[in-house]
Amino acid sequence: MNRRNTLAALLASALLAAGPAVHAQAKLKVGVMLPFTGTFAALGTAIDNGFKLYVQEQGGRLGGREIEYFVVDDESDPAKATDNVNKLINRDKVDVIVGTVHSGVAMAMAKAARDSNTMLMVPNAGADAVTGPMCAPNIFRSSFSNWQSAYAMGVVMAKRGHKRAVSLTWKYAAGDEMVAAFKEGFEKGGGQVLKQLNLPFPNVEFQALLTDIAATKPDSVFSFFAGGGAVKFVKDYAAAGLNKTIPLYGPGFLTDGTLEAQGDSAQGILTTLHYADSLGTPRDNAFRLAYVKAYKLQPDVYAVQGYDAAQMLGIGLAAVKGDITKRAEFAAALEKAKIDSPRGAFTLSKAHNPVQDIYLRKVEGKQNKVVEVAIKALADPARGCKM
Ligand code: PHB
Repeated sequence: MNRRNTLAALLASALLAAGPAVHAQAKLKVGVMLPFTGTFAALGTAIDNGFKLYVQEQGGRLGGREIEYFVVDDESDPAKATDNVNKLINRDKVDVIVGTVHSGVAMAMAKAARDSNTMLMVPNAGADAVTGPMCAPNIFRSSFSNWQSAYAMGVVMAKRGHKRAVSLTWKYAAGDEMVAAFKEGFEKGGGQVLKQLNLPFPNVEFQALLTDIAATKPDSVFSFFAGGGAVKFVKDYAAAGLNKTIPLYGPGFLTDGTLEAQGDSAQGILTTLHYADSLGTPRDNAFRLAYVKAYKLQPDVYAVQGYDAAQMLGIGLAAVKGDITKRAEFAAALEKAKIDSPRGAFTLSKAHNPVQDIYLRKVEGKQNKVVEVAIKALADPARGCKM
């Protein structure tokens, strides 16, 4: 052996010996796929903020591994979703993907995650299929299913004595699924849905639809919009004077993270959601204080879901000491975990969706104040999930 070969051999054996240690210390690559532009931009930012806040609270590490971020703006565009998620999977070779907000984009992500066995944490999108027919050992959700967020409102509206409702939403998976779930809860309580009105996502030309509602004269309106679209819809509804005669209801997305911009037009609106601004628990107070300090912004449900996605990743990683390839142990830890969320502690269903209390909230000033718990420990039915 010449001198060069001897050196090379020495180096190789040194590297081999260091192998496991080097592996344990490698950064965990987290692919963040969220909307940072368009009508859901503020939602994406809040999720990103919440996720990073939790990681910072843990000293920048989860399960002993430092976190490295790879970021894609998905623009809430389903047509670009497969290409976007494949950038994270194939180009960046991330260990886990966190995303997204829009149900149509999330379904493409769930398909890619299943096909490539990439770990996926969904921090908002409610697409029922993600914890239904597409459920998988490597897919988890820290937020809600569309069914969960809207079924409760149907129950509440019927209980409040409403009989004849009109629904209005964007025509895509989230809107369709929320209206179907609302209808299920409302009809169970003796209500009837007179008309299901829609407009394409992310349009905000509401005038003709508001005229239709005024002519139909329902006793209530159920509506799903979020982000910039929700701001404009709630303002237009009030500007048309409809808030004086036909009460507006919806999943809490209608008034979450939007009250600063909606102002007077949102006052008194009742919504259902798994979070509220006035919980007053030590856990939520601490979270809200830390969030305001870090970002000079009030937190909302999206910030909580991002924070909890990081908590969930941390629980799974701690159980496998940072080795995210140990899929079964990672999943088992989460399946038996009680997640200490600012919303109140929750567990995960077998399909990996939160089982959680749904609050009835009322807009007062700049807050969604808790009226009561509308449904305790509501679980998504996980229709079609075989796992
Ligand atoms: C969805 O597309 O699933 C979605 C988007 C925004 C929300 C809630 C659900 O606020």
